[in-house]
Amino acid sequence: MIIGNWKMHKTSLEASQFISALAPKITACNASVFIAPSYTSLYSACKTAEGTNITIGSQNLNEHLEGAYTGEISTMMLKAEGVEFVLIGHSERRQRYMETDALINKKMIRALQDDLLPVLCIGETEQERKKGLTQDVLKQQIKVGLKNIPFEDGAEIIVAYEPVWAIGTGKVATAQIAQDAHSFCRKCLKDTFNAPLAKKIPILYGGSVKPDNFASLIAKEDIDGALIGGASLNVETFSKIINLC
Ligand code: PGA
Repeated sequence: MIIGNWKMHKTSLEASQFISALAPKITACNASVFIAPSYTSLYSACKTAEGTNITIGSQNLNEHLEGAYTGEISTMMLKAEGVEFVLIGHSERRQRYMETDALINKKMIRALQDDLLPVLCIGETEQERKKGLTQDVLKQQIKVGLKNIPFEDGAEIIVAYEPVWAIGTGKVATAQIAQDAHSFCRKCLKDTFNAPLAKKIPILYGGSVKPDNFASLIAKEDIDGALIGGASLNVETFSKIINLC
């Protein structure tokens, strides 16, 4: 499973041109391909992706059904555009927009209630890793992020492990560091749900994934795909990564 997170890049025209160019290059791949453009590109991206093997999602949502929340976007609005998944708790949202684990949990519940596939993004900062707190942070983010999520909904989520120190820095985690974190996340998912379900939930790695480091990451047992920022903005690099699957 490969997800491209376009962040605040690409107009709606650029989004549809990108998808038209990407689709024919990835017809032979085995991966599920997801792209999360900005809100304003969702409609054109969904339309262009129709009939391809690309699924469109959003980078965020509001935890409320509807109401007086100026500037916010609801699950129903997203679904009406054709959106099928949503990134929740990306580290940029946690750090720059003060999203807490409790808020992220509300967004997870909202997405599941309204039939959008949520991708729970988690990961430690450099400081937390240096202090030996990586496992504590991941455990907390999973425990609170998935609080009160019914067992039957557990099969309908994706987890993305994205060490904050690796995002947009070019400092990719070594395959072994990523594998260790993923296997720990899998253990936390087992404690939250159960072992068979924990095995089924895809855990993606994110943080400076590029065509030349992806093969060693995806070879690891607990790494089921990637969440890709910078390298998903270019058709050549993104299709190269997808076709390595
Ligand atoms: P990056 O971003 O691939 O540019 O490091 C990953 C992400 O933020 O999801």
